[in-house]
Amino acid sequence: VRLVRTIDWVDGAVEIIDQTALPDEVRVLRLSTVDGLVDAIRRLAVRGAPALGVAGALGVALAVREHADPAAAITAVRTARPTAVNLARGADRAAAAVPAGPDAVLAEALRVRDEEIASSAAQGRLGADLVTALCGEAPRLLTHCNTGALAAVVDGTALAVVAELHRRGTLGGVVASETRPLLQGARLTAWELRQMGVPFRVAIDSAGPFLMARGQVDAVILGADRICANGDVVNKVGTYAHALGARRAGIPFLVVAPESTVDSGTPDGASVEIEDRGPSEVLAFRGTRTTPDGVDAVNPAFDVTPYDLVTAIVTDRRVIRLDKGERLQ
Ligand code: MRU
Repeated sequence: VRLVRTIDWVDGAVEIIDQTALPDEVRVLRLSTVDGLVDAIRRLAVRGAPALGVAGALGVALAVREHADPAAAITAVRTARPTAVNLARGADRAAAAVPAGPDAVLAEALRVRDEEIASSAAQGRLGADLVTALCGEAPRLLTHCNTGALAAVVDGTALAVVAELHRRGTLGGVVASETRPLLQGARLTAWELRQMGVPFRVAIDSAGPFLMARGQVDAVILGADRICANGDVVNKVGTYAHALGARRAGIPFLVVAPESTVDSGTPDGASVEIEDRGPSEVLAFRGTRTTPDGVDAVNPAFDVTPYDLVTAIVTDRRVIRLDKGERLQ
């Protein structure tokens, strides 16, 4: 059981659990400068859409303490990574309070944090009800990337649903896909599921669609970094393949995310900037090169699942059944 939150404001600075050190070590990083926070965001020491929203807001609280004119520092925070809408949105919310002074900025940033905490619990309840309605008792779920407390502040999104089903005693089991190249599934989700006492196994990403085809998975449930106005879902690369597998196998594909990830200002997935993290993550593994010298790589960190492959989107406030023609707005 963790005694610290994934991200929080503690005695005038941002504290995060350094996710690059997991699962080997639970290391808390104290970040008292915008530069330090931006670096932590880029290195994925803090990651996951809801956690990035809180990082964006708290980053602005740091910026106004550090700089008489915080404009450039605020821009650095809000653009540290491009794809998860929560980061810019969290930064913008806190930045709107800048004219009212640093205390007002911090108060707004802490509201962003507290809203994410409340939101996780609501997603867990709504999502668990939906999974039970669609799959009955003891569903076997496949999830991708990391959507637990580490991706939020506490509880998370899709993993909050898993936790709630487990508490209710109605979870069959989980397959966590490892999530190449940075292994958020194998390192982080596996660490969290073990703490929860959930029965689970890790699988390589490309096994997902085959396990679905063999009838070993009853539903796919995962998170989102941005949900577009038309329902297109931008999430960790590999999500699209799982969605195609789910459609072919005829099983539900469920997306769980807070309302803060729903971006009505982005019409569809084609308009979203997909972060490319450069070749090194693909060409080497933990410092050891796995490809011949001189080889190049392409490394999109996210992909887009078209809305017509999505059975339902669950937020903290509503369930949108895209498969029944319901729309976000
Ligand atoms: O690159 P990451 O680790 O920040 O990507 C995170 C994801 O894609 C998560 O699935 C998404 O943020 C949903 S988290 C609740």
